[in-house]
Amino acid sequence: QMVLSWIAAFLLISITASQELTHFPEHFVVVRRNENSVTLPCDSAIAGPVTWKMNDEDLDFDYFYEQKDQNLSVKEVDTPLLGEYSCWRGETKLSSTLLLQETEEGEDIDALLTCHAVSYDCSFNCTWTDSRYKMVRLGVGPECSEGQTSCQWVSKYRQTENEKLTFELSHNISPYAEENTTLEVTAEAIDNPFLLRRTKVFYLREIVVPESPEIVSSQVVGQKLNVTIKPPSSWSTPHSFFSLEHEIEYVYRDDGRAERSLSSLIPKKISKLRARSRDPLVFSSWSQWTHWKNVRKSCRCKKKTKSELPSQCLEHCKKKKGQRRRKKAKKSPNPGK
Ligand SMILES: *[C@@H]1O[C@H](CO)[C@@H](O)[C@H](O)[C@H]1NC(C)=O
Ligand SMILES: *[C@@H]1O[C@H](CO)[C@@H](O)[C@H](O)[C@H]1NC(C)=O
Ligand SMILES: *[C@@H]1O[C@H](CO)[C@@H](O)[C@H](O)[C@H]1NC(C)=O
Ligand SMILES: *[C@@H]1O[C@H](CO)[C@@H](O)[C@H](O)[C@H]1NC(C)=O
Repeated sequence: QMVLSWIAAFLLISITASQELTHFPEHFVVVRRNENSVTLPCDSAIAGPVTWKMNDEDLDFDYFYEQKDQNLSVKEVDTPLLGEYSCWRGETKLSSTLLLQETEEGEDIDALLTCHAVSYDCSFNCTWTDSRYKMVRLGVGPECSEGQTSCQWVSKYRQTENEKLTFELSHNISPYAEENTTLEVTAEAIDNPFLLRRTKVFYLREIVVPESPEIVSSQVVGQKLNVTIKPPSSWSTPHSFFSLEHEIEYVYRDDGRAERSLSSLIPKKISKLRARSRDPLVFSSWSQWTHWKNVRKSCRCKKKTKSELPSQCLEHCKKKKGQRRRKKAKKSPNPGK
């Protein structure tokens, strides 16, 4: 039994020692640069003697440490004294606390954290861009920027390309009265043993970027093409209140020239078109373009019953057919398109 518990203790130590921190630590204490002493509590429900370790080693440097009951006070805190402190009773680890130091000024939060919302609804995404920081958490609202314990931190993220971390956050700003309300997003990021803490303040409208719209159909109206575009399904409703304007880019069939239009009526003789959207009231960023959508010529020569074709199309189609035959005869048996 001695051997078993010895093995268990050994396993516990080697697991904790080899584990690189990737999740935000449950317990940590941050010292400011000019602060020189700090008290670390031992999170134990039971009174009685405990011992402390730093990074799983017994404490050296008696000068810097003083134990008061279960608490450990650390003097002249600086780099060699930063790290993971744990309190033990015998072979049992009771709790552990990461002792961190605040980073120096000079990190620009706007470069570190970028936020986007696809609508005025209550959720938005923020992406942390600096991969030096392995542990990051974000919180929304004054509770978090003021460091209150009621702050609800979000430490769940998705890792995207280039090691960027994307967090899904939510706010409770009414979409109907967002004009005057700013959003505060506070980030805490650890590059062990340093902690960075910054708050980014912005209006919701500044981060709104709609998703791509949907090109539903296009219809010939006289010499024009009437394009019907639907807002993306993620856009806020009702659409009569949350307006969206669409821009269409199209390519002329004859010379390949491209033009753009904010009107849904565009020239008829085009080969393809695509669209994008923005909120016209706040001049939000444009969405991504949709994929190109090919526009078929209005003469559908392959129609079975030729009598359905308008007269100018019949001429056109005869010519086409002749061209195709000649090509076929000249080239391979593969008909192509
Ligand atoms: C130990 O720390 C706790 C929490 O910070 C505090 O309430 C308590 O008074 C401390 N005990 C001593 C003996 O300093
Ligand atoms: C956040 O990102 C996820 C994944 O890319 C996406 O599905 C979701 O729609 C985004 N939410 C917002 C509000 O932008
Ligand atoms: C925004 O604030 C200004 C001045 O504080 C006020 O006049 C205006 O009515 C407010 N707008 C909204 C939509 O609340
Ligand atoms: C274009 O189509 C929309 C419906 O998709 C219709 O409401 C509008 O009147 C049409 N415009 C013209 C000029 O025909």
